[in-house]
Amino acid sequence: MVSTKILFNHCYGKYAIAAVNVFTMEQVHGLFAAAEHSNTPIIVQITPAARNYAHAEMLMSMVKAAAGIYSKTVFALHLDHGVEEHIYDAIDNCYSSVMIDASHDDFETNVKRTKAVVEKAHLKNIMVEAELGVLSGVEDDIDIDSSHASYTNPKQAKEFVERTGCDSLAVAVGTSHGAYKFSGGKGLQFHILEQIQNELPNYPIVLHGSSNVSAKEVEEINRYGGKLAENASGVTDEELKKAISYGICKVNIATDLRLLWTKIHRRFFYETPELFDPVVPGKAYMNEYKNFMLERFEVLGATGKASSII
Ligand code: 13P
Repeated sequence: MVSTKILFNHCYGKYAIAAVNVFTMEQVHGLFAAAEHSNTPIIVQITPAARNYAHAEMLMSMVKAAAGIYSKTVFALHLDHGVEEHIYDAIDNCYSSVMIDASHDDFETNVKRTKAVVEKAHLKNIMVEAELGVLSGVEDDIDIDSSHASYTNPKQAKEFVERTGCDSLAVAVGTSHGAYKFSGGKGLQFHILEQIQNELPNYPIVLHGSSNVSAKEVEEINRYGGKLAENASGVTDEELKKAISYGICKVNIATDLRLLWTKIHRRFFYETPELFDPVVPGKAYMNEYKNFMLERFEVLGATGKASSII
């Protein structure tokens, strides 16, 4: 396990690290297996919802076990979308980094809450990701209507980083959480990303809502009885590759692995209604998860980079 800072110093402007939310044992196996197999650095993300579902100690034990089983993996452990209660617990438990998400507060409150977290986290050498601007979409138990979303203001971003001392910044540049990004058809706002990079050169920027939401996966899910809407869509590989040159170091992915879970389990129930063994779809999920992540690492240019970090 390494510091998130080390990962960002290594990748800035060249490639991006996949930061993947894990909820279950199968996901932890799939992620670590892919990372070790391809010598790729990863960020393992835990959300408050995951902690409520599986328990913080269970998740920590699974990550520790995976670090032993896949012992060549280079990874950081990150708390995604934290509030103070979870953040201070994550700091006590020596996560590599924590996110304080006060993006829904007004600017001054966001600065105040972020700065307080930074002061505590830095005492333990733990990095802090903050967020400025508001992403729309659904993630775990957060649901933000697009009318309440707003892009990051680049000038404010510089002031925010200077005043809070946060180590990386999640920005709102057109993506949203969940399977229905860009329903309004706008896509990633590269001109805003460029302005942010001009204001904050060499500073690691984080892209939330980075799932690809492949049309093929959506079609498969619906073929096996799912009811996802036609307008499900995500960030294209070309957009992700281009974003890296604008300082995007961390690419957050959760929805794609939920879609994969749904496809595999729907297919299992549809094709083999006589079976009732969780191991069968579980194994298929671990394997396909690994393959999916191998392909994402390639897109992000991160494959093969782990051993040169340490
Ligand atoms: P997706 O919903 O696009 O997977 O985004 C996940 C995310 O940003 C986690 O913080």
